[in-house]
Amino acid sequence: MTACIVGWSHGKFGKLDGETSESLIVKAAGEAIAHAGIEPKDIDVIYVGNMNGGFVRQEFHSSLPLQTHPDLRFKPSTRVENACATGSAAIHMGLNTLAAGKARFVLVVGVEKMTELNSAQAGEVLIKASYVAEEANIEAGFAGIFGKITSAYFQRYGDKSDALAKIAVKAHKNGAKNPYAHFQKEFAYEFCRTPSDKNPFVAGPLKRTDCSPVTDGAAAVVLTDVSTALGLKQAIAFRAAEHVNDFLPMSKRDIVKFEGPQLAWKKALASARLDLLDLSFVESHDCFTSAELIEYEAMGLTAPGEGERAIHEGWVERDGKLPVNVSGGLKAKGHPVGATGVSMHVMSAMQLSGTAPGGLQLPKARIGGVFNMGGAAVANYVSILEPLR
Ligand code: COA
Repeated sequence: MTACIVGWSHGKFGKLDGETSESLIVKAAGEAIAHAGIEPKDIDVIYVGNMNGGFVRQEFHSSLPLQTHPDLRFKPSTRVENACATGSAAIHMGLNTLAAGKARFVLVVGVEKMTELNSAQAGEVLIKASYVAEEANIEAGFAGIFGKITSAYFQRYGDKSDALAKIAVKAHKNGAKNPYAHFQKEFAYEFCRTPSDKNPFVAGPLKRTDCSPVTDGAAAVVLTDVSTALGLKQAIAFRAAEHVNDFLPMSKRDIVKFEGPQLAWKKALASARLDLLDLSFVESHDCFTSAELIEYEAMGLTAPGEGERAIHEGWVERDGKLPVNVSGGLKAKGHPVGATGVSMHVMSAMQLSGTAPGGLQLPKARIGGVFNMGGAAVANYVSILEPLR
């Protein structure tokens, strides 16, 4: 263990009219520093996770956290981008900075303001996270990419629409307990399973209820080294943090295998000296329900093609043997792309410190896993977290 999360904050996710990425950053940064019990002057280095690419006109975000407090002026701050894994990428930059001995306290803020655009325009921005030379003409934005992956999966293993609908139901049931979630209501199985005016097909076999929404939001963490963390009021340690990038073109990969996520999980579990089922929960990147289904296989919960067992047999429910996305996941909590990876770490830190709000807290949360993915299984980050003491 080399680094810890010692402070965090999480704003409400949703369509946040009247907020800007600046206002979201300032609020998240100030609250995380206060939660760590340190002063703004103690922060040595800042990273801002923000994908942008046209969601807002303000592209240059690195100095916006400095608006939080005059003592942050002149601190080195850098914007980090790695598609939908931007938040975890920013955290990893913080971990690397600590490992290099270049900072004692690092502030990481993840933010995205997506809803200034309508869904179609947001899709135009998100498709830039595909291999544009070959994939940008796929219809329906990034949902089109996952529509294609889902069709390929169904062709190989059979139609899994029942499992996808159950994954959506689980996400919304969990999200209904999460005061930070974009959607805080339950969805019935029949509604998710059946195409309708309110639940139309979006891309291939994916319906609206299979997609994460277009969302605004921010979250932040303060990172420090283990010896400093021992003197602070709360500390969640990184038992492992692994990052694996795969080729960008889907044509260069067997896309239903998620080999990058698989390797990231394998490396993280090996470095933590744990088996998957030693984890008390996983926050996994369910940008689409089919992504979560394939991720069950990539993390090693089931054999390839058998991911549906994990949902049909209840293993990934709140009270199952490996609860997945107790927070509601991207599907219900929302997916403000630059904030998502930070949000996943914050949700896990809350669980592991016994401070998850509302009805979210799991009775036994000892070790948590986070999987955050940029693009179609391209930039893959796995963290394994546990309380320092
Ligand atoms: N899941 C469930 N309900 C959703 C939803 C979602 N993902 N997105 C919107 N809704 C609901 C809205 O709340 C609204 O409900 P209401 O009529 O009760 O008010 C209704 O559906 C219509 O909303 P609207 O925003 O007009 O829907 P839309 O059809 O324009 O957009 C999607 C829906 C799925 C196309 C859009 O959310 C989307 O593009 N998601 C994918 C985003 C993405 O690719 N992210 C990156 C992943 S890597």
